[in-house]
Amino acid sequence: MTAINSVTQLHRIDRVAVISIHFPPVNALSAAVRDGIHGAMQAALQDAAIEAVVLICEGSTFIAGADITEFGKPPAGVSLAEVQRILEEATKPVIAAIHGTALGGGLEVALVCHWRIAVPSARLGLPEVNIGLLPGAGGTQRLPRIVGVEKALENMTSGSHVRAGEALESGLIDELAPEGELQAAAVTFAQRIVAEKRPLRKIRDQNEKVLAARDQPDIFDKFRQANARKFRGLEAPERIIQCVEAAVNLPIEQGLKRERQLFVELMQGQQSAALRYYFFASRQAWQVPGLAKDTPLLPVETVGILGAGTMGAGIAMNFLNAGIPVHIVETRQEALDRGLATIRSNYENTARKGRLQLADIEQRMARLTGSLDLQQLADVDLVIEAVFENMDVKKDIFRRLDQTCKAGAILASNTSALDLNEIASATSRPESVIGLHFFSPANVMKLLEVVRGTHTSDNIIATSMQLAKKIGKVAVLVGVCPGFVGNRILAQRQREANALIMEGAMPWAVDRVLYQFGFPMGPFAMSDLAGLDLGWNKERSSSSTLREVLCEMDRRGQKSGAGFYDYDEKRTAAPSRLVEQTIADFAKKKGFSTREVSDEEILERCIYPMINEGAKILEEGMALRACDIDVVWVNGYGWPIYRGGPMFYGDQIGLDKVLARMQQFEQQLGPQFKPAKLLVELASSGRKFSDLAPAK
Ligand code: 3HC
Ligand code: NAI
Repeated sequence: MTAINSVTQLHRIDRVAVISIHFPPVNALSAAVRDGIHGAMQAALQDAAIEAVVLICEGSTFIAGADITEFGKPPAGVSLAEVQRILEEATKPVIAAIHGTALGGGLEVALVCHWRIAVPSARLGLPEVNIGLLPGAGGTQRLPRIVGVEKALENMTSGSHVRAGEALESGLIDELAPEGELQAAAVTFAQRIVAEKRPLRKIRDQNEKVLAARDQPDIFDKFRQANARKFRGLEAPERIIQCVEAAVNLPIEQGLKRERQLFVELMQGQQSAALRYYFFASRQAWQVPGLAKDTPLLPVETVGILGAGTMGAGIAMNFLNAGIPVHIVETRQEALDRGLATIRSNYENTARKGRLQLADIEQRMARLTGSLDLQQLADVDLVIEAVFENMDVKKDIFRRLDQTCKAGAILASNTSALDLNEIASATSRPESVIGLHFFSPANVMKLLEVVRGTHTSDNIIATSMQLAKKIGKVAVLVGVCPGFVGNRILAQRQREANALIMEGAMPWAVDRVLYQFGFPMGPFAMSDLAGLDLGWNKERSSSSTLREVLCEMDRRGQKSGAGFYDYDEKRTAAPSRLVEQTIADFAKKKGFSTREVSDEEILERCIYPMINEGAKILEEGMALRACDIDVVWVNGYGWPIYRGGPMFYGDQIGLDKVLARMQQFEQQLGPQFKPAKLLVELASSGRKFSDLAPAK
């Protein structure tokens, strides 16, 4: 065994050299790994006793990609291109032995080896698109040469991983190795290659599949059209398509050049910077500073839910899907029956779309029970309250839960705006009370705000974070304040959207600007979808808000065929002349004078107060880190992921610019624009939100 460097070992098994990489956690292609492979290959090629080489990794995975932490730093060590050259042009067969994941640059290294062997549990993919890049080490030229153009386009623009079995079928790997015996199988495979004197196989020379696509030039446009909605706003998928077009139409050397040029462009662009930032932000959100790693976790094997309404039913599905039995308690049989029926029909809808087997539905439903009896929750490990948003009702329930539930049970509320500490004060065990704020529809939306009360204990927090992972949510720990993090920031945008239409911007102009920014829809289209009559009461309605006026006109949103927009039978929205007039009349009655409002002002008025509110949230310690706020907004509110999140966006455009506009707006429009102290501090010292240390 020879150590080539701190992360690379070289040893011989008979006449086969085994290069083994050990660079935890994911064997990313850092300078040390590149140097190590290069050095080991030189040694193996010079050693006349060696006839073949196996490249393998230690730990949980094969190389999972380029080292993202090196991006943007000055180049060091041997380049990836040089590593690939020495592997591909080796005069002795080189075999990549894959377990765990071979991703991005990792798969691209495997693709310059002459053969690939993997264990069945391995997964392979080119996920660069997820960080706003394209496979920049030959992946866009080599993958279509193996799996064909259409499959390559699909794989690279979705960033999906394929399982080893599928990879074998498509030719991406050449053989499956028994699980746990990868190295031995790879060495045997190498010996066979040598014994059979097989000519070295280079993917770069296999041209049939790309040449076949030359006869079908419309493949690319069809692919663009079919995915237009999915790719909206994103730069990387289009560049990937262009690279594959180059693979089809140009010799490989030129194709590789084109790939490099487009890769560098993406790497220097703002989208990739945002997506790379988000990659780390989404991982950081799980870390809670100050919480010991060995904090004991409580078992959560049974769950009780109070309320079988919109939220209760959706929340229950998360646990049923994860194999955890749920008991729902309601006050009325009719509400309970409706809730249970909703759950079944949601599953049936999923099954109709082919995403669930009928047997799975029965398995999940078998874990679900319901009653009108709170005593049934005496032994559950976790209770989630999802009843009406009313403090008295919630306090009464928590008082009763305190008397009913076993010691150590987690008592959670799904309140979206009420003071969790006040709810907890109704119990004798506020340390067991936590907020688990799901988003609607709760069985679909990824985000979970985990709300830490003043007294919530560490093990309840740690257990809740871990449980969120188990049920497939993205959890962010937040503090108690009105609206927590997400809705508190949303309120800023909503206030400005409403104000803008009083000042002369039309709802469809506001929606268009925010849609073009990258949101799935604007606030007025969203209101129409949710229903303008949420919380509206016909008898008490007094035309005091525009919403009330619209409801009084029976413009209650999509469900009544009209809201801010007019809708046809296919629910296609069209701007409404009547609404335009109604807004003008209402604005006049309220004393607004209207004017031309530019798109730029719409965007700044909607977004900058959000950034400012985020700064206040950080100042108050209601979020641990700026990037947590971004994770909330990307997962809960459709913030375009390629813009990182509101706080990253603020950093990217410059906090001095945000501050200057907020100050202007404050002067012109009032104190709602008063800049947060933290915003002033950071902007005046030339710092960013990302420079802040996490709160404890
Ligand atoms: N570079 C640097 N660090 C990486 C990394 C990478 N490519 N991939 C993962 N990490 C780090 C994570 O930040 C995390 O660090 P932490 O423990 O300090 O938070 C640690 O490795 C473990 O990662 P996960 O928490 O994500 O672990 P999982 O086991 O859930 O997932 C994984 C493992 C599937 C490999 C996942 O990390 C992943 O998808 N990684 C990214 C893969 C990728 O995008 N590769 C392409 C990179 S770009 C490229 O290769 C360009 C080339 O074409 C030239
Ligand atoms: P909902 O009105 O659809 O359902 C509430 C259910 O609770 C009703 O079925 C009612 O019969 C039942 N209920 C009332 N008192 C009860 C009691 N004492 N015991 C058992 N059941 C009782 O309300 P929804 O929308 O599900 O909201 C529930 C909670 O979730 C509220 O606190 C709300 O703020 C919060 N929330 C709502 C979101 C939404 O988009 N609807 C999003 C996030 C949180």
